Parts: sequence; structure tokens; C-alpha cells
Amino acid sequence: MRRAIFPGSFDPLTSGHLDIIKRSSPLFDEIIIAVLNNADKHPMFSVDERCEMIREVLPSVETGDCRLIVDSFSGLTADFAKRSGAQAIVRGIRAVSDYEYELRMALMNRRLEPTIETVFLMAGEEFSYVSSTLMKQVFELGGRVEGLIPDLVERRMMEKLGTVM
Ligand code: PNS
Repeated sequence: MRRAIFPGSFDPLTSGHLDIIKRSSPLFDEIIIAVLNNADKHPMFSVDERCEMIREVLPSVETGDCRLIVDSFSGLTADFAKRSGAQAIVRGIRAVSDYEYELRMALMNRRLEPTIETVFLMAGEEFSYVSSTLMKQVFELGGRVEGLIPDLVERRMMEKLGTVM
């Protein structure tokens, strides 16, 4: 059984995240989308809201025989991966600017759990500039983000901000 975790804040899920899930699905039998419960941050969505949104959106992603699970975690990603029985941590790279941060995390995670490898996947070029932070910022200022986040996420953002459709 090849199992991976795909950890992140997912505040909120973007089309770039979905692209990485789709691309990684032929490589694994099971992928756990692992939503970080980070008490330090001030997220737009609670961890429960993020997990629920991801669960609602995932059936629209074609992943063949790969099973997708959504879970949340606190603490170290490496510990969660070990606890979950995963062999790999999946991370998406959008541009060279992501590489340095991702490399540091991958090396630290490998030091913490030498048996778990980080697998980097290149996001589609059309998502190379898409981040949760940028999506929230543009949306909050009234800009258009359709196609860059799932429709359901856009609706939830509108509800959250009390925006009239
Ligand atoms: O989607 P993000 O915000 O880029 O995800 C970053 C995440 C959650 C993968 C990273 O912050 C993380 O792993 N946090 C958990 C704490 C931890 O393990 N820190 C050490 C990483 S080497």
C-alpha cells in the first residue's frame, strides 16, 4: 500500500491544490489531505470548515483507484506522516521561488523521519501564481478569482465575507 500525505494550510483550497492532488493520484494508493491546525495563524476558515470544503470538492477530482482521505493535524508534519503510516509527503512547486523553502522543509522532515521521502510535483503552469493568500487578498478587494479556486470555495468565501452574489 503506497500512502502519502499532502499537508498544507488549505485556507482555502485552490485549483492549484486540486491540480497537485490529481497529478499525485497515479503514484499512490491513498493520499491523506492533511490540514494543519495552526493556532498561531488567523485563518479565514476554521480547520473544520476547511476539511468540510475539501471533502465536498474532492468527488469532482478524477483520481482513478487512488483513495483520498481528509484529516487535520497539529504539531509536526513528519510525526503525522509517521503516525499515518505514510511513505511520502507530497508538496507542490509552482515556481523556482518555492524551491528554497520547500527544500529546507523537505530536508528537515527527512532529518526528523529518515524513512519518509518528500515528493515534489510541478503544478500546472496556469496555477503557477495561485496561492491561498493571493486568492483571499484579491477576493477581499473585489477582484475576480473564478477558475483559480473551486466554485464551492468561492461561494463559501462570499458567505464568509457577507458578499452578495
Ligand atoms: O500550505 P502551506 O501553508 O505552505 O503548508 C505548510 C506546512 C503546513 C506544510 C508547514 O508549515 C508544516 O509542515 N507545518 C507543520 C509544522 C512542522 O512540521 N514544521 C516543520 C516543517 S520542516
